[in-house]
Amino acid sequence: MLIFKKVADLQSWIAAERAAGRSIGFAPTMGALHDGHMELVRLSRRDGHSSVASIFVNPTQFNDPKDLEKYPRTPEKDIALLHDTGCDALFMPPVEEVYPAGEKVSIHLDFRQLDEVMEGVFRPGHFIGMATVVHRLLDIVHPQSLYMGQKDFQQLTIVRDMIRQLQMPIELVMCPTVREPDGLAMSSRNMRLSPDMRAVAPVIYQTLTWAGTEMRRRPASAIQTEAMERLRQAGLRPEYVDIVDGISLLPVEHWDDSDFIVACTAAFAGEVRLIDNSVFKEM
Ligand code: PAJ
Repeated sequence: MLIFKKVADLQSWIAAERAAGRSIGFAPTMGALHDGHMELVRLSRRDGHSSVASIFVNPTQFNDPKDLEKYPRTPEKDIALLHDTGCDALFMPPVEEVYPAGEKVSIHLDFRQLDEVMEGVFRPGHFIGMATVVHRLLDIVHPQSLYMGQKDFQQLTIVRDMIRQLQMPIELVMCPTVREPDGLAMSSRNMRLSPDMRAVAPVIYQTLTWAGTEMRRRPASAIQTEAMERLRQAGLRPEYVDIVDGISLLPVEHWDDSDFIVACTAAFAGEVRLIDNSVFKEM
C-alpha cells in the first residue's frame, strides 16, 4: 500500500492508475479504524476499483473542540489494517494540504431540512464542515465510486444530496453497518466506553430492532417515546429516537406513509455519545 501526504503526489498516482485503465473507489475516514471501515475498502475492491482510503481528522466538523482533542488517533494500527485489507493507496494529509492558506474550499449548499433535524439539532455546524471536507476530498481524488457507511445515515443522506445538487459524476455506495457480536455498531468511540457502559450499549440496537417490529402496528410517535424510555431505563441518556423517511429525513408516522423508513438515534453512554440506526423498510 502506498501512503501519500501531499495532494500532488496522490494525484499523479491516480492519473497513472486511470491511464492504466483502472477506476478509483474512495473511502474517506477520520482514522481509529475498525472492521466497519474495512468493509468500505473490501466493497471497493469487490467492485473492481483501485481502492483509495483517506485518514484526516477534519477540524471543521467538530462543534466541540474537546471532542476534536479527544478523537482517538492510532495511525500505525490503521496503516496495518488497511494494508492487510488490500487497500491500494492511503491519503494522510496534514491540515494545510486539505485547507491551503488563501484557497477557498468552502461550499455553499442549502441542504434544506437534511442538516437541521436529528444530529443537526445537537451538533450545529457539523454537517457543513463534513460536507466541505468530503467535497474537497472528492475534488482531489475524483473517484468513480464513493464508499460510505450506513452507520452515519444522515451524513450519507447529505452527501447524496450534495452529489445530486452539484451533479458530480460519482456513484455513492452505502455499506451496511458492521456490528459487534452483541449488536453494538462498531465505532471509533467504543474504545472510550467504560466496562459498565460497554455492557449496556447493545441496548441501543436492541431498542431499534424492537421499534422496527412495533412500527407495523403502532404510530411512530408512541414508539419513539417508549424507545427513549427504554434507553433511559437501561442507564443511557438518549437525545432523540426519530423514525423518518430515508430520503427527506422528515418524520414518518405510519408504516404505509413511506417506502423507505429508518429509525435513527443518539444516546450518551456515560460521556461517550453513540449514534445508530436501523432501516425498517427500503424501496
Ligand atoms: P469516520 O467516522 O471515520 O467514518 C468513516 C466512514 O466509515 C463513514 O462513511 C462511516 O459511515 C463508516 N463507518 C463507520 N463505522 C462503521 C460501521 N460500524 N459499519 C460500516 N461503516 C462504518 O464519517 C466520518 O469519518 C467523517 O465524517 C468523514 C466522512 C470522513 C468526513 O470527515
